[in-house]
Amino acid sequence: MERRRFLSYLTVGLAGVVSSVLALPALGYLIAPLFARASEEFVDVGGVSDFPRGSVKAVKFKDPQPLPWSGRAADTAIWVRRAPAGGAPEFQVFAENCTHLGCPVDWRADSRLFMCPCHGGVFHEDGRVASGPPTQPLFEKQWRVEGERLLVRGPLLPTPRLRQ
Ligand code: FES
Repeated sequence: MERRRFLSYLTVGLAGVVSSVLALPALGYLIAPLFARASEEFVDVGGVSDFPRGSVKAVKFKDPQPLPWSGRAADTAIWVRRAPAGGAPEFQVFAENCTHLGCPVDWRADSRLFMCPCHGGVFHEDGRVASGPPTQPLFEKQWRVEGERLLVRGPLLPTPRLRQ
């Protein structure tokens, strides 16, 4: 094989290898949704008596099915609201993320509002938008009571408003 032809094949071969290596992250990004899974698992977030009537409390827990590379992203937090006596539904469980751009909202017990520190979004205690940029209510998670324990369905990312 003549030298010029050999170098030509070598260049094309190396270009193919480099292109393949550079394309792998993009390929991974494109096929990742095929392997995504929503956690069906309910997570025990505490005893029912840990949430007094009329209270709103923050609860932190880990994604029950973290991806190997989740790291700290597997940590999640929710707000558990228990309605005053006679109120329905008895519980509302909110993702901590604002529905505008996802910042964690904070509960202000004095005004009974959820406040978003990023752009001033405000939500009523039942999750409805009070003011600010968000147009959607806080994301709600499914829950159930088993015995005396409150269980919350634990998908890591907020999902559209779920109803019991
Ligand atoms: S992220 Fe909450 S108001 Fe923008």
